[in-house]
Amino acid sequence: MKIIIDTDLKQLSVDDNDVQRTLDLYSDEAFELISDQWAKVGWNQKYVYSFSWMGRPIIQLPEDMVRTQEVIYRVKPDVIIETGIAHGGSLIYYASLCKAMEKGRVIGIDLEIRPHNRKAVEEHEMFDLITMIEGSSTDPDIVAQVKSLVQPGETVLIILDSNHTKQHVADELEAYHELVTSGSYIVATDGSMKDLYDVPRGEADWVWNHPTAAAEEFVTAHPEFVVEQPEWPFNESGLSKNITHWPGAWIRRK
Ligand SMILES: C[S@@+](CC[C@H](N)C(=O)[O-])C[C@H]1O[C@@H](n2cnc3c(N)ncnc32)[C@H](O)[C@@H]1O
Repeated sequence: MKIIIDTDLKQLSVDDNDVQRTLDLYSDEAFELISDQWAKVGWNQKYVYSFSWMGRPIIQLPEDMVRTQEVIYRVKPDVIIETGIAHGGSLIYYASLCKAMEKGRVIGIDLEIRPHNRKAVEEHEMFDLITMIEGSSTDPDIVAQVKSLVQPGETVLIILDSNHTKQHVADELEAYHELVTSGSYIVATDGSMKDLYDVPRGEADWVWNHPTAAAEEFVTAHPEFVVEQPEWPFNESGLSKNITHWPGAWIRRK
């Protein structure tokens, strides 16, 4: 694809597989085209590796964080389960929302919780709302341990942010979906991989091997779930699409 931005003429010209179009630069469509490229280039430049929440690194695009906050505030889960802890910033983020809402707690699972990360989370102001479990998110013992921490009738929201291969995400969806309550979500993050196979830091097999493919197959097999971008609670723009690394991620239980 070739994009030319002419700031003097206030036009954006796009040539996509020899189909040429010229858009008003100040149009929603031009903004979406620029944003998609911005997100793609930013992913390669490790933009998401430049943020922290309450002192801990969080590896997320800020818009994905804010959109997740909108959902958490609406759903008000009793339990937020996240696979993939890394430095712990996302656990701290979700726990801080729980603290502010005076509702909810967080369970995090990671294959390897490095001692300095564990220590930092354990010493954090939010730790009383956090449980960390070490092991593979799809190991049946780990899945059983997580399930034992959820009480019947509790509202559960799940964020899958560990290994992003199609198979692993498919296995996580199978392992955890029963916990998700009606109106809540299981989120298969990082579907942007499908658009990142050709960037310098990408992998060729991401063209098919990505979380969105797992999410799509999951909802076909489980019609009680639907892939659906959560509605924005506030929107005075003409825009409607998340600028995200999580396209096709939000799987809602009907
Ligand atoms: C993208 S990072 C998580 C980022 C974190 N959620 C955040 O927002 O800052 C992915 C993490 O998944 C973990 N991981 C990889 N394979 C895993 C598995 N099979 N089970 C659990 N965690 C896994 C890695 O150790 C790594 O810490």
